[in-house]
Amino acid sequence: MNRVLINPEQYSQHWKKESEFLEFHGIYQLLSKMTPSGNVLEFGCGIGKGIRYLSIGHNVLSLDSNPYLVDEANRYLDSVGASRKIHKCDFFELTADDKRVIREFKPKVIVGWFIGSHGVDIFKHTQEEPNDITKSKLYREKIEDIVVSPDVCLASVEYVHLVNRGGRVVGFTEAELFNDTKEDYDTYVFESIGFEVFEVKNIDWPREGSEFQYAQAHNPNLAKGEVVPTIISIIAKRVK
Ligand SMILES: C[S@@+](CC[C@H](N)C(=O)[O-])C[C@H]1O[C@@H](n2cnc3c(N)ncnc32)[C@H](O)[C@@H]1O
Repeated sequence: MNRVLINPEQYSQHWKKESEFLEFHGIYQLLSKMTPSGNVLEFGCGIGKGIRYLSIGHNVLSLDSNPYLVDEANRYLDSVGASRKIHKCDFFELTADDKRVIREFKPKVIVGWFIGSHGVDIFKHTQEEPNDITKSKLYREKIEDIVVSPDVCLASVEYVHLVNRGGRVVGFTEAELFNDTKEDYDTYVFESIGFEVFEVKNIDWPREGSEFQYAQAHNPNLAKGEVVPTIISIIAKRVK
């Protein structure tokens, strides 16, 4: 069967609507206040909503490969009078010049909020995974691996702030959520590079009125039970 995958332009329009929706609900405003201070390297500018709110308290450099989203971000940031530094590159194919731009910026914080992409990108990088829903999760995990790789997570980096869409198990306390997420992320992402999760926040994920369809893959490393849609903010800091 021939699949029709969402292309970069279609994805940019989907993400524009969703990020306007998230902004309407105050999500970017809230997340940017949680981000530790210092130079912020953003993985994925989307339409620039993260840049707008992060740049109120931070110097921001954003990386993105989707030309439609970069154009949307420039238009949007012009319309609100916000300055920006957006560098076009593909996270999976960082060139010597891309790495130089990152090094010269001296990031103190890396943010990866709502990591995802259009179908063409996701299928290209997750060919080993047959399940469509799990592909999005695998794509995000591969980018998380790039975020903590030595060319990106330089000695200047002290914090990594990841934000994911997912599910919260009903009845789970904040402490249980923290312990489960910390164990999962410390084991699979942070421990090997000397970082440790120190803050996990659950934010209600307003879905009513949203047209954006998320493929939500269950994380087998987390507890089982009835789940409600949640935005999970995870901040790790360097401990070694
Ligand atoms: C879901 S959007 C989130 C954007 C932004 N972080 C926000 O919170 O609004 C994901 C962004 O990451 C970018 N992206 C995804 N995969 C990428 C890759 N391999 N290289 C560069 N940018 C990528 C997409 O183009 C998109 O702008």
